[in-house]
Amino acid sequence: MKIGILSSGGDCPGINATIRGVGKTAITHFGMQVIGIKSGFSGFLTKDTVSLDDEALSGILNLGGTILGTSREKPFKKILNSEADDKPRIILDVYNELRLDCLVCIGGNGTQKTAYQLSELGLNVIGIPKTIDNDVWGTDVTFGFDTAVDIATEAIDRLHSTAIAHKRVMVIELMGHHAGWITLYSGMAGGADIILIPELGFDIRKVNNAILERVQRGKPYSIVAIAEGLETNDKKQRPATYISYMIEEMTGIETRETVLGYVQRGGSPSAFDRNLGTRLGGYATELIAKGQFGRMVSIQGDKVTSLPLKEVAGKLKLVTPNHDLVVQGKRMGISFGI
Ligand code: F6P
Repeated sequence: MKIGILSSGGDCPGINATIRGVGKTAITHFGMQVIGIKSGFSGFLTKDTVSLDDEALSGILNLGGTILGTSREKPFKKILNSEADDKPRIILDVYNELRLDCLVCIGGNGTQKTAYQLSELGLNVIGIPKTIDNDVWGTDVTFGFDTAVDIATEAIDRLHSTAIAHKRVMVIELMGHHAGWITLYSGMAGGADIILIPELGFDIRKVNNAILERVQRGKPYSIVAIAEGLETNDKKQRPATYISYMIEEMTGIETRETVLGYVQRGGSPSAFDRNLGTRLGGYATELIAKGQFGRMVSIQGDKVTSLPLKEVAGKLKLVTPNHDLVVQGKRMGISFGI
């Protein structure tokens, strides 16, 4: 069999471990031929490929980013009166020209939707979920998330000492466009006093009350962890800027903002993310060998399994108000601004 692998959407730590997991198992255990498609679906449109032999797959386990490159190309996106509508047909032609038996798509929600659409066109496709945001439906956790949470937690730890020294409120904005997973997990791990995520919404008066109550309890500093996807009354400003302004204005306490940004997506993957990518990658090759296509590999509990891409496409996995970390946080006196 000949298989192609691509990574699409925002990069995250653990993609290379996954490419290696797929590639080495496919070559060594199943005797398959493996090629990489560069820059996500863009590379498919331009037939930009690279052979992934044992040498190409060596020394990449601990590397961040993706050796194949990535893009946010969405081949099924409709652009009125444009030749862009031919993209799915081009991909089908290139898939046949390359004589692929399967295409492995490593990506987040958008990529899994595209993978499903390609499988509907007749391509043999396997999806592997990835994103620091951890919001892919159908899997307990995505690789990249653990590493990002570690980076964000370290940043919150570092803000603590300077917040205490200056008796300030420190607002830190973390990634998560739709989902507050990184903010919830790093906020709890870093001991944030207030955690605001898009799924729960917030009332600024409750945020300020929580800060003022802390002052009364002899804690003149606070750490406020917020997700980038938080909806505020001012769409023109970043949530961190808006929330910092509102806190300082309404409490009179000096407030500073930090936007952690892309640091969360870069660098070497944690041991957990390396092993998760390796496990999911290996399982993908089992599905390919058995001819079970149109599926996304996933982890449920400690079990590596898979589900139809049709069930995943177009859905998001979000934090729920009854998530145990939210419930536990509230019981410990952490404010969620609601
Ligand atoms: O990969 C997910 C993510 O990190 C989101 O949290 C963020 O909104 C988005 O990517 C931004 O990525 P880019 O600027 O690369 O589109």
